[in-house]
Amino acid sequence: MQVFKTKFELRDHLDKYRSKNVPIGLVPTMGALHEGHLALVSRALEENEVVVVSIFVNPTQFNNAEDLANYPKPLEKDLSLLESVSDELVVFAPEISEIYPEVLESKHYDFEGLDKVMEGAFRPGHFNGVGTIVEALFRTVEPDRAYFGEKDFQQLQIIRKLTDNQGIPVTVIGCPIVREASGLALSSRNTRLSDNSRQEASFIYDMLQAAKSKFGTESAPNITAWVEEEFRRHPLLDLEYIQITDVDTLTPAKDKKENIKYRAFIAAYADGVRLIDNIALN
Ligand code: PAJ
Repeated sequence: MQVFKTKFELRDHLDKYRSKNVPIGLVPTMGALHEGHLALVSRALEENEVVVVSIFVNPTQFNNAEDLANYPKPLEKDLSLLESVSDELVVFAPEISEIYPEVLESKHYDFEGLDKVMEGAFRPGHFNGVGTIVEALFRTVEPDRAYFGEKDFQQLQIIRKLTDNQGIPVTVIGCPIVREASGLALSSRNTRLSDNSRQEASFIYDMLQAAKSKFGTESAPNITAWVEEEFRRHPLLDLEYIQITDVDTLTPAKDKKENIKYRAFIAAYADGVRLIDNIALN
């Protein structure tokens, strides 16, 4: 496994493959890797001859300084996890100054409203930060395919918009959410939960499944009101939002229409840790 710290060395290494038209896959991550990340890596390995995994905790996408400071950075452990998947992976683990040599600032993008709802509404500036790092990675690696989890479904749709709008020739591939046995979606932030909260946090997925079973017979506003009430009764979890939207515009849905795909999205806090999850409704 080769680990590169600079864009120059990484590009120099990849040029050998690019000149022979060997397909390159990219899996962007912020490290603290778990089975959710590794599923993306395995898929990328199946579909590409060379796979680059980036590990970079991107400061500009954090709207909360404490969240950034508490974000785990177990680089050595991450590298051995990746090595256990394949010793042929290429890892890009730059320092902050390599990505932001001058100012620690995001670019500004027009995501046509996709960034105004849910994560974008509750985390101001977040998606400009995500766009900035992902565009920089795309321009450095020039991958044929890039892999993102449906865990961050809004992010996935925003990255699709980014590649379309910027004309970046990469196929963006969304991969299913990997969950703990309890149903809790795997997340690097789960390690910050107490054992009890980690058990209780599976309530988020219970509510998403309940929303799914009600969808079609009850209206979206009724379902979200019901979920809000269920969370109010929960002793440990604080709901930030529940939204039912169509998958293309991410705008709130009212009633189910034919030929439109919908998802339900939840953000909630447990032990002061912010957790997000979502589910396809049809
Ligand atoms: P991070 O949270 O490390 O996630 C990296 C990738 O793994 C994302 O595409 C995310 O959706 C996916 N992922 C995380 N948990 C998952 C799960 N339980 N099942 C399936 N996929 C999962 O998302 C980011 O980093 C950053 O915003 C990044 C895109 C790297 C830009 O900094």
